[in-house]
Parts: sequence; C-alpha cells; structure tokens
Amino acid sequence: MKLFVDTGNLKEVETLAQLGILDGVTTNPSLLAKEGGDYRQILKQICQTVKGPVSAEVVATDAAGMVREGRDLAAIDEHIIIKVPFTKEGLKACRTLTSDGHRVNVTLIFSPTQAWLAAKVGAAYVSPFVGRLDDVGTTGMHLVREIVDIFDNADFATEVLVASVRNPIHVVEAARMGADVVTAPAAVIEQCFRHPLTDIGLERFLKDWEKAQAARV
Ligand code: E4P
Repeated sequence: MKLFVDTGNLKEVETLAQLGILDGVTTNPSLLAKEGGDYRQILKQICQTVKGPVSAEVVATDAAGMVREGRDLAAIDEHIIIKVPFTKEGLKACRTLTSDGHRVNVTLIFSPTQAWLAAKVGAAYVSPFVGRLDDVGTTGMHLVREIVDIFDNADFATEVLVASVRNPIHVVEAARMGADVVTAPAAVIEQCFRHPLTDIGLERFLKDWEKAQAARV
C-alpha cells in the first residue's frame, strides 16, 4: 500500500520525503488555504520534493470550469493529479480530463455506488472519506471494504485512496483490506512510528552497553 501525506505544508512533505517513506501527497482547498501564500508555487515545490502524485483540487462547480481549472493545475507540474468532487458535473469533468490524458482523483466519496460511478468514467483514484463517516456514527472502513470488493470484481484500474484518516488503526485496516493508497495527516504518520516498548528497549540496550564499557576500565 502506498503512503501519501494529506497536507499543504511543504515542511511536512520534506520531513517525510527525507525518511524515504512517502509516495505522494494529497491537498485540498482547506489545507492550501491554511498555508496562505501562492498555492501554485506551493504545489510546484511539493511536486519537486515528493516526485510522486500530488492531488490538487478544483473549486469550480460546473464541468467546464472544472476542466479549465484542472488543465491549469496540471500545467503546474507533471506530478499533479486533478482532484474533482463527486458530483455529476465532477464526473463529466473527470471523463473529459481523463480522455485528455490527465489523471483524476474523484474526492468526497461516501458510498460504494459513488466509487463505482467514478471508476466507470476513468478516475485514476477514488477517495473514500473514512473519518468523516466515523464522525457521523457509521464505520468508514466498511465503505473501503465494499469498494475494494467491487473494484476487484469489475477489474477496474482505479486505485482506492483511503482519505480522511484519523488514526493508525485506519492505516492498518486500509492495508489489510487491500486499499492501494492511504493518505494521512503528518500527525497520524508520526503516531505510526511510535511504540513505548521500542523506546524502553532502546534505552535499556544503551544503558547495559554503557555499564559494560564502564566495567572494563
Ligand atoms: C483527502 O484527499 C482529503 O484531503 C482529506 O483526507 C480530508 O480529510 P479530513 O476529513 O480530515 O478533512
């Protein structure tokens, strides 16, 4: 399973890219708005850093506007994936952009039928939002299982990109279910590193080593 970071923050992308664990980045209008500054420049720098797929979302709500914005975003860098919302207009735009040779991520997926319809129009990725489903009292990961099953049966090339991830359990479940990609905030990726027994174990190894060295002199 590929790991993307869900952020518009260049520093976070740089830090994770240096660790060699990062395959791509997802952004959205809220994340880029939080950063301020020139979003085109930020996206370009993120693309140059990660050298993998970077989703950038349109804000138009009509298909023609989405296509126009999508082409404009794609001109920023070869790594840009055009993100469109799951609406009828979004699907029309996805179809046009895909036949132009662009890769499209259909976002705001909350049902298996939405994912299936997006795959039918050639989406490169679908983004089910698991955390937001959990927030309203359903189990977001059930949606991922359904989409993975549907895509396996239909032999779609569309990748399942698990989004709106809130904790490492989402990451583990996504991997076990056979999702293609998980995109997580940097804070959740950080949690994936941590285990108190690793820290305790390392501390003990170093102390024992130090004691043995001191006994030798
Ligand atoms: C995915 O591409 C979205 O940017 C993101 O995962 C949304 O997550 P949120 O529900 O934490 O805002």
